[in-house]
Amino acid sequence: MRKKLVVGNWKMNGDRARNLALIDGLKGRIPAGVEVAVCPPSPYLAQVQALGEPLGLAVGAQDLSPRKEGAFTGDVAAAMLLDVGCEWVLVGHSERRTLHGEGNGLVAEKVAVALEAGLKPILCVGETLAERDGGQAEEVVRSQVMSVVSLLGADAMARVVVAYEPVWAIGTGRTATPEQAELMHACIRECLELAGVAVAGVRILYGGSVTAANAAALFAQPNIDGALVGGASLVADGFSSICAAAAAAAS
Ligand code: PGA
Repeated sequence: MRKKLVVGNWKMNGDRARNLALIDGLKGRIPAGVEVAVCPPSPYLAQVQALGEPLGLAVGAQDLSPRKEGAFTGDVAAAMLLDVGCEWVLVGHSERRTLHGEGNGLVAEKVAVALEAGLKPILCVGETLAERDGGQAEEVVRSQVMSVVSLLGADAMARVVVAYEPVWAIGTGRTATPEQAELMHACIRECLELAGVAVAGVRILYGGSVTAANAAALFAQPNIDGALVGGASLVADGFSSICAAAAAAAS
């Protein structure tokens, strides 16, 4: 059985004092049997890593550069993320795709660089509302996934976590129903399987307005292996309830 994974994406929120309070609020509330990580903004990675380690809370970055080092002002390299204790890295989040123009090619390169460096990439995919309404949701998500498989190959892809985050559900309070999410997760798994990826061990997270109220129903679906949580990860009570729901679903 795949171990459930719950990842908090703090986006561009937090400061040293608030981070401390938030991690403090998670003390004793990271359940055994579930993997939990948070992704703070890059200036706070080292702080959050040090605070989180004794709690069993791993740390991830929200993005990385596709380059190794050099004259790339503002970019952060995979080796630097590892150096400050990151285990995970989000790649291709819809806010990066939309606000920073990241296309499938660049996203695939970043996933490859992350894996090569020894980071665990979480590849974010998802369709917009217009694409869903136009009946293209599966096709869009399939091509987002396949562009990474094509570059990496099936063996390396087995080491990638996929996060399905419909763009229309992110930060909107409008979550996909467990059935809608499960259908897309099953479609992603099938597409990976057809590409020759050893899918039994590949975790597919759902993201988009996950809260303590809807987490259990999502985690009950056979192909939903955890969650990527934005807004609700900024409140210790809400985030720890989501982690508890993951633990309950796993037991
Ligand atoms: P949300 O964000 O939980 O606030 O919808 C999820 C995400 O963007 O990863």
